[in-house]
Amino acid sequence: MPDSTTDRDLQEGISRVIAQLTAAVTNTGLYSADHPQVAQYADKAYGVLDELLALRPEITVLLIGDDLVADQKPLPPGAYVTNFVRIMKRKAIERLTFVAGLPRAEFGALIHDLASPDAAMVRSTAFIKLGKVELRVKTGTDAAQQSGPVSEISPEDYEALISLSATELNELKDLYLNIKKHRKIDVRGVDEIVKSFVASVRQESNPLSLLASLKSAHEYTFTHVTNVGILTMSQAEALGFKGEQLHQIGIASLLHDVGKLFVPAEILNKPGKLTPEERSIIETHTVKGARYLMGLDGIPKVAVLAAMEHHMKYDGTGYPTLKGGWRPNIVSQIIAISDVFDAMRSRRSYQEPFTIEKIAEVLKNGSGKSFNPALVDHFLKLIRR
Ligand SMILES: [Fe+2]
Ligand SMILES: [Fe+2]
Repeated sequence: MPDSTTDRDLQEGISRVIAQLTAAVTNTGLYSADHPQVAQYADKAYGVLDELLALRPEITVLLIGDDLVADQKPLPPGAYVTNFVRIMKRKAIERLTFVAGLPRAEFGALIHDLASPDAAMVRSTAFIKLGKVELRVKTGTDAAQQSGPVSEISPEDYEALISLSATELNELKDLYLNIKKHRKIDVRGVDEIVKSFVASVRQESNPLSLLASLKSAHEYTFTHVTNVGILTMSQAEALGFKGEQLHQIGIASLLHDVGKLFVPAEILNKPGKLTPEERSIIETHTVKGARYLMGLDGIPKVAVLAAMEHHMKYDGTGYPTLKGGWRPNIVSQIIAISDVFDAMRSRRSYQEPFTIEKIAEVLKNGSGKSFNPALVDHFLKLIRR
């Protein structure tokens, strides 16, 4: 970016664009697309956007949870953000990219399409690209490696692969024990753990080498969250999440199953098949976890969402069943992949661990239904490099 524009200017500019765009869309609903009020807002939004696009070839806004993220940072909260989030959700748009050269008329057409009260799809154009979050794999590893065969790691190998320090693992374990005892946690403790996890993930290009192994049955939940944390932070880092967002995703991953602490251990650790009733009790860990986290200070919103949504499938099925065509947010979608991966590669009393090859097959088969297809592709590249 040219020196004349700071990151803050860019964020501010994007905020103004979104505010004016939201006003234009809302007013189209109130009046009509050709009302002068609409044109005024649209002109203002377009004017600022045009200036920004003179500095950057593309401006992208992502929908992550209930936040709008531009230039890797959430836009400061405000009524227009809430309204624009609602508009994006209604149209199932997670990513909105404006490309330099955008004609005014095309911008006007976007406003018109966004204003229609139904869920009718808004089409991408050459200058306005819409869609689900688009992914990129971290560069720096060679392409041959990424498309190479699946590296086969035997279950025995996992045992020897723990490379997080004992201190890091013990801190996380203490945190879980404390939740169980006092049902309260110090968020600063989680912050510290996430920091050391992020540092480990950054050093390793393949997250599989960081996974912890299961030592005993009752350590399952703890070992599982450790691994889901590593796999999730590793995916998020490679997807380009940085700073505070990456940190919040880390917190969300380590706390995704916190609700399991409020489910009777004898059901949770029961070997063999569960009765339908036991199954539905286990399923409450999502809502219980979300409710618990909501009552704590300093927990990012995305962690509450992830606790709630990590067993929801990409197509909105799964559990819990939520009203109004609810779809899991991108962070929950990332965690869902880590979650299933770790569950399948773990040895349980009733299950032999799956091979990586087999897990890749399950993920691919569920692509587009259970899992976000772009995230599956990205994840498979990540564990194969
Ligand atoms: Fe879970
Ligand atoms: Fe889980």
